[in-house]
Amino acid sequence: MTMRLLRGGEWASELQNHLPLQALDQWMRQRCLVVKSDRHSLVALGELQQKYCYLKLYQPKYLLQQLVFRLGRGRAVQAYDHALRLAASNIPVPQPLACMQVDGGVLLVTEGMERARDLKSCWQDKGSMVPQLSAAAESLASLHRGGFAHGDSKWSNLLWSDNRVYLVDLEAVQACRPGSAAQWRDLARFTVNAEDLALPSADYEAFLASYCQHRDIGRAAVLAAIQQPVKRLRRRHRRKYGERGKRLV
Ligand SMILES: Nc1ncnc2c1ncn2[C@@H]1O[C@H](COP(=O)(O)OP(=O)(O)OP(=O)(O)O)[C@@H](O)[C@H]1O
Ligand SMILES: [Mg+2]
Repeated sequence: MTMRLLRGGEWASELQNHLPLQALDQWMRQRCLVVKSDRHSLVALGELQQKYCYLKLYQPKYLLQQLVFRLGRGRAVQAYDHALRLAASNIPVPQPLACMQVDGGVLLVTEGMERARDLKSCWQDKGSMVPQLSAAAESLASLHRGGFAHGDSKWSNLLWSDNRVYLVDLEAVQACRPGSAAQWRDLARFTVNAEDLALPSADYEAFLASYCQHRDIGRAAVLAAIQQPVKRLRRRHRRKYGERGKRLV
């Protein structure tokens, strides 16, 4: 098996010379800090060629996906392409650096955000969340104004770093009209996640106020638009986890 560069510039092609042709997962475990590992992905942070990087090794879940990966397509490539498009619209996302086909899957490399914490882990610190929530709303509003929807805007995919919130996990991003259903689903997803964590209403209001300000839209219009998708997501959530948290809308 040879390594094939699917995306990226000079830095990425130089990186190819430093990665092993086999057992990249073991190499990542030895060289980087593993932050997530399951049967289908290995996620790590570490320094590669003088850059602090986020690495995600996508391993195929089933045969068809293996084929898709071999064709140089699939979730890693989508995540890379979406990041490039969003960055070009000045939407805060980690810079995409490389995407390559490797033994056992496809590797995505993006800029690693230093001292970053996702919103879910910030919440576990129990301090005030207003700065993070206002920044999250600003980033989601800029994504939506730019004509995109995230597709998986749960709290763990919003990364707080240097007083900004960066959007990560961009595989499901789609281009859409501002104000379309996919964008309301983003807000609904965020809201149901906030309800699940029993976020205080005042904090949620800070999020809503910041979103409305950056979208130039009224609070009542937002609440009306997210009502249906919130109901649907709550039902799904209840089936999965049972009744928990506290309603916000
Ligand atoms: N560019 C980045 N720089 C630093 N940390 C990051 C970056 N992107 C993601 N992370 C962190 O890495 C961890 C794993 O992220 P990842 O999105 O790959 O997995 P996940 O969110 O747990 O999985 P999933 O979203 O599929 O449920 C998260 O805690 C996130 O905070
Ligand atoms: Mg994630």
